[in-house]
Amino acid sequence: MLDAYASIAETIDTAIAPEHRLPVAIVGAGAIVDVAHLPAYRTAGLEVRGLFDLDAERAKDVAGRHGVPNVYASLDELLHDNAVRVVDIAVAPQAQPDIALRALHAGKHLVCQKPFVPDEETGRKIIEVADRLGLKIVVNQQMRYDEGIAAARAMVEAGWIGEPTTLSFTVNIATDWTPWPWLVRSDRLEIMYHSIHYLDAIRSVFGDPVQVFCTGSRTPGQVAAGETRTISTLVFPGDVRAVVHATHENRTGDSEATFRIDGSGGSIKGTIGLLYDYPHGRPDTLEVNSLSLPTDGWLPYPVTRRWIPDAFAGPIGSLLRAVADGSEPYPSARDNLGTIRLVDRLYASMDSGHSMPMK
Ligand SMILES: NC(=O)c1ccc[n+]([C@@H]2O[C@H](COP(=O)([O-])OP(=O)(O)OC[C@H]3O[C@@H](n4cnc5c(N)ncnc54)[C@H](O)[C@@H]3O)[C@@H](O)[C@H]2O)c1
Repeated sequence: MLDAYASIAETIDTAIAPEHRLPVAIVGAGAIVDVAHLPAYRTAGLEVRGLFDLDAERAKDVAGRHGVPNVYASLDELLHDNAVRVVDIAVAPQAQPDIALRALHAGKHLVCQKPFVPDEETGRKIIEVADRLGLKIVVNQQMRYDEGIAAARAMVEAGWIGEPTTLSFTVNIATDWTPWPWLVRSDRLEIMYHSIHYLDAIRSVFGDPVQVFCTGSRTPGQVAAGETRTISTLVFPGDVRAVVHATHENRTGDSEATFRIDGSGGSIKGTIGLLYDYPHGRPDTLEVNSLSLPTDGWLPYPVTRRWIPDAFAGPIGSLLRAVADGSEPYPSARDNLGTIRLVDRLYASMDSGHSMPMK
């Protein structure tokens, strides 16, 4: 069994080959750059040449604490740094499409954050420019690289649970949105900014659904304007189904963040460690119970990496490999349009009260 686990660990390794590494600059010096991007890139051996943020003091503080040598005075100055080959954009999402187009026209490969774009049309325009200029875009939907999720997906692909039938996420936590005023004001909240991770992770295992239903709601006394409790049901061809049940208004302190994949020949279940103490978190847990392997009941898989910061090396590592060998990054901007469409269809369902076809 340990030999079988070694093959899973090898499949999901996120180390970045030294010959693939290219200098990076980051637009935005906010919370996620501070706790995730910069620590992950340092561990991965990447050179971050500099940061730009509209809030110059914040950029200076973050750069100083992480040993980043330059704070650019403007986006133009960053884009004119010819040594920079990759621009990682991590700003409030409304500002991302314009910065992405400017960075592409300056000849830079891109790491974009979720949500990649407000609508598919905007995304297609950005992808068209990247294709024309021969540049690559990866979307940092790094839950695909979170070790518990990545190992679970590798086990499914290895056939350990037979034909997969159901994937479920159950998240019941207390989320303080107040450090992000733009999130507190947003009328689209839970699906757009949080469950988008689970939805993208589900797509990484099952592909695109054919029909979806979503209901979203609020809790008396909540601070945020948008929905904080959602239930999403995804129907895939045949008998495959997925469900995401997320609430951010747990008032009793007993956080729960679990996932489970069932199949015709076994099951995989785990916890999402990050959500038990955000953003420090703890490693995920993962167990597999397989009828085709000698597991004799539930057997733990030894998870040693965290969602934050470790999974953040995954998308940029894939981008750098794609630049080196001409492959598609994982997940590419083109792939991510499927996640954007899914989010859009779920809100259409939430607004109408009806289930929605994906076409
Ligand atoms: N796990 C994840 O993938 C994950 C987690 C958190 C946030 N995010 C995404 O990362 C992005 C940033 O989130 P955050 O938590 O760091 O937000 P934040 O509000 O803490 O920081 C955003 C920063 O962007 C700067 N900024 C805004 N517009 C700018 C512009 N035009 N040019 C330069 N700087 C600009 C702001 O001054 C601020 O410092 C968002 O898109 C968010 O959805 C992803």
